[in-house]
Amino acid sequence: AEVEKIPEVEKLLKKMTLEEKVGQMAQVTIDVLTIGDTPFDTSEPLRLDEETLRKGIVDYKIGSVLNTANNRARTREKWHNIVSTIQKMAQEETRLGIPVLYGVDAIHGTTYTADATFFPQQIGMAATWNRDLVRKGGEITAYETRASSIPWTFSPVLDMGRDPRWPRIWETFGEDVYLNSQMGIELVKGYEGAENEVGEPVNVASCLKHYLGYGTPVSGKDRTPALIPDIELRERHLPPFRAAVEAGAHSVMVNSGLINGVPVHASYKMLTEILKEELGFQGLVVTDWKDIENLHDRDRVAKTQKEAVKMAINAGVDMSMIPYNFDFCDYLVELVNEEEVAMSRIDDAVRRILNMKHKLGLFETPVTHYEDYPKFGSKEFEDAAYQTAAESVTLLKNADNILPLSKDARVLVTGPNANTMRPLNGGWSYSWQGNLVDEFAGKYSTILEAIQNKIGEENVTFVPGVEYNMEGKYWEEIPGDLDAVAVAAKDVDYIILAIGENSYTEKPGDLHDLSLSDNQMALAQTAIESGKPVIAVLNEGRPRIIREIVPEMEGILHAYIPGNFGGVAVADILFGDVNPSGKLPYTYPMYVNTLVTYDHKPSENQAKMAGMYDYESDFAIQFPFGFGLSYTSFEYSDLSLNSESISGDDELTISVTVTNTGDRTGKEVIQLFTSDLYASITPDVKRLRRFEKIELEPGESKTMTFILTAEDVEFVNAELNRVTEPGEFEVSIADLKAKFTYTR
Ligand code: IFM
Repeated sequence: AEVEKIPEVEKLLKKMTLEEKVGQMAQVTIDVLTIGDTPFDTSEPLRLDEETLRKGIVDYKIGSVLNTANNRARTREKWHNIVSTIQKMAQEETRLGIPVLYGVDAIHGTTYTADATFFPQQIGMAATWNRDLVRKGGEITAYETRASSIPWTFSPVLDMGRDPRWPRIWETFGEDVYLNSQMGIELVKGYEGAENEVGEPVNVASCLKHYLGYGTPVSGKDRTPALIPDIELRERHLPPFRAAVEAGAHSVMVNSGLINGVPVHASYKMLTEILKEELGFQGLVVTDWKDIENLHDRDRVAKTQKEAVKMAINAGVDMSMIPYNFDFCDYLVELVNEEEVAMSRIDDAVRRILNMKHKLGLFETPVTHYEDYPKFGSKEFEDAAYQTAAESVTLLKNADNILPLSKDARVLVTGPNANTMRPLNGGWSYSWQGNLVDEFAGKYSTILEAIQNKIGEENVTFVPGVEYNMEGKYWEEIPGDLDAVAVAAKDVDYIILAIGENSYTEKPGDLHDLSLSDNQMALAQTAIESGKPVIAVLNEGRPRIIREIVPEMEGILHAYIPGNFGGVAVADILFGDVNPSGKLPYTYPMYVNTLVTYDHKPSENQAKMAGMYDYESDFAIQFPFGFGLSYTSFEYSDLSLNSESISGDDELTISVTVTNTGDRTGKEVIQLFTSDLYASITPDVKRLRRFEKIELEPGESKTMTFILTAEDVEFVNAELNRVTEPGEFEVSIADLKAKFTYTR
């Protein structure tokens, strides 16, 4: 599809020199424009460096800047001054006065100031299975980001969270294609507005990342090679991007890695043929960090840096996240002059960039004024973040209904995640790796503090048992005094074991072993040996293997990375003020060698199929996808279909009744799966097709209706076409099943 031609943009394009066009295609990090040693030197306040700023904005005419220099601006006012200075120079000191497009990773809240509102990270948002909360989270993040004069967020992540070894799984919506697509649409609409009216000063442009196939590297380590057959790419990785492109998303960021040996940044097939032509994507495609350079330095498909620029731009990249030097611009000018890159390609890229700037209203309003955003960090926003955290927390075990605990109980709180905000928020907000945690100290409650507030400090003993190293190598653990834990356990009724991970993202989150660390397992054993009932709270970005301790835990809550209100949400659930309603957005594995998703092929369970149980061939899981307990109970009945067969475009109406059979009001997620019984390629055992979260009072029933068409049960066949083959299908909701047939 031809990219939209906006008269104002076309007029501008005609006036632009090659250098001005190429400048628009360049994005630098703010760190090169500021004074200070490194972005991580947070002792240095953020100050712009006149000289490099002029070099970037005036000499190189760069079109975009990213990052907040690890929150070094500290306050909204200072941040406003920084962006204003950049925009002023772009508008007043360049020939055409084109404003800069500022972008940032506002992935669960905006990122540079302690008074912003932080939601659970994406994996927690997915665990709510509540579209409204995810939309609201997007809206609030957009409001606070735009209030910060930043009109562009690098979010949502639509990579599939199918491999728990991959360190960015917490940035995803989990393992399922449909859940990813649905939640992706909500975040896009939340950021951009229901009609994608990104010019509204409360909205921002979204950026779908990391197109395509980033989440499943063979080794599980970040940015290592992936092998993904086209059929799998189209069946599982492409659909969320397609859905979000159809929802109007304005930009896409490219996967840093290789697929089948081809760096995605150099793939004409992926960027131009599939994204821009097949999906009809009209927005701008930005690289990830330094990834054009990587085509030469790391991936070795380009013999020189200049060749790398040629490859990426000709493949379909519109903007280079450079991020540190301006060589990209020089090379690209040369390449156009040498006719190695066509002027039409440059015009296409610049048109996409300027269209976005135009739609964002940057020509009229390059900066906003934080005084115009009275709701920034407001109680209303905090309540939404709290609600999202509370609905994300997933109750995985509740032996003999030990939970909720009585508020008269005496508890020992232990574990490295008990008394720190950092792992509650994760990467990209408490700065990239969470270095600025001090800024927030005391403002929000850790798990320990929230429990103390709930039942009184006098009823709570705290012994960490294990701590995270909060300086430098933050992924390291410092073993604590386990004897002290054993002694403290003697005087309490229960032990709350807050375990999991410190925050991380990207490569620093790589792991050699998915098992929970030895230190934490030893702490768990100490707690178990005390004989007191232990309730584990898992504050972790990926499912760490906990098989050996699961049988000994009386209760298990999975909190994911719940944001600033995660501590309160956990305490509210532990002591019964909130009834848990989160459901797992991924399969929780039991062993490191059984990393299989719920939508696997039947042959993953061959031993079981053959009735043989004496070898470890079946895939074994700890907790299934979609699982999560409540303090009440729900019963499903009367699953019915309006017809036993459909053909063509017929709609199949499916209804089911859900009843709250317990004695507490609770929320339940109705999950509708289908199974294609026989197909030309082996079908997945089941696939999620619909879900809805509802609230029911004790004794209350609701009948839910879902509509499916043949398109909802299609799959990618061996010829890479999306097809629905005639045949028999099964619908399942909870334990109920019904069948229908499809004829053409
Ligand atoms: O948006 C991120 C991306 O997810 C990882 N690399 C850096 C980008 C910009 O910060």
